[in-house]
Amino acid sequence: AEQKATNVHWHEGDITREHRSRLLGHKGATLWFTGLSGSGKSTVAVELEGRLNELGVLSYRLDGDNVRLGINRNLGFSAEDRTENIRRIGEIAKLFADSGVIALSSFISPYAADRNQVRELHEAAGMDFIEVFVDCSLEAAESRDPKGLYKKARAGEIKNFTGIDDPYESPWKPEIHLHSDQQSLTEEVDMILGELRERGIIN
Ligand code: PPS
Repeated sequence: AEQKATNVHWHEGDITREHRSRLLGHKGATLWFTGLSGSGKSTVAVELEGRLNELGVLSYRLDGDNVRLGINRNLGFSAEDRTENIRRIGEIAKLFADSGVIALSSFISPYAADRNQVRELHEAAGMDFIEVFVDCSLEAAESRDPKGLYKKARAGEIKNFTGIDDPYESPWKPEIHLHSDQQSLTEEVDMILGELRERGIIN
């Protein structure tokens, strides 16, 4: 989005990201879950949040409840609104990660270009951005249909539903590629914890 305000300047404080990470005993980062509706993004994020909590690692989930009902309540599901949804969430995740928290962001985020913008935003600031592709066949997601939305989309009651009559662009090179229709939840979470350890984000 265009920068509208002029004469605004970044104000540097005395306490840095390094100070905060020493305080917490781990680094901040953004874990970006992407996948179809019903693929299990939130399920994995919730399970991971529990495991991180047991390990004494501070994380925070960003998902539909606290974002689409709050800061992004003025956005729908047009291509333009989805892009703005992801842009704002990306900025919020970056603030959490900068504060030292592990941000767990679970949104369909169907457009590769939007996800890549969030990646660049983090990388330009020297922050970890870990894309987690929650890969699941449309058949499996549709047969789960936890909210009955696929059924409505098939019946034409919801328009522009991702995977039915709206696109989903799979990541090319996600840092982590889960297969939620074949792996157990524990396996998935262990993969993510392994990656966080390998990168030195947690011990
Ligand atoms: S996006 O594309 O990233 O902006 O979408 P997101 O913010 O993750 O919101 C997806 C959830 O909204 C519900 N929903 C829809 N999804 C896709 N397409 C359409 N048209 C739509 N309308 C409502 C749906 O419950 C999604 O929830 P999840 O948790 O992904 O199943």
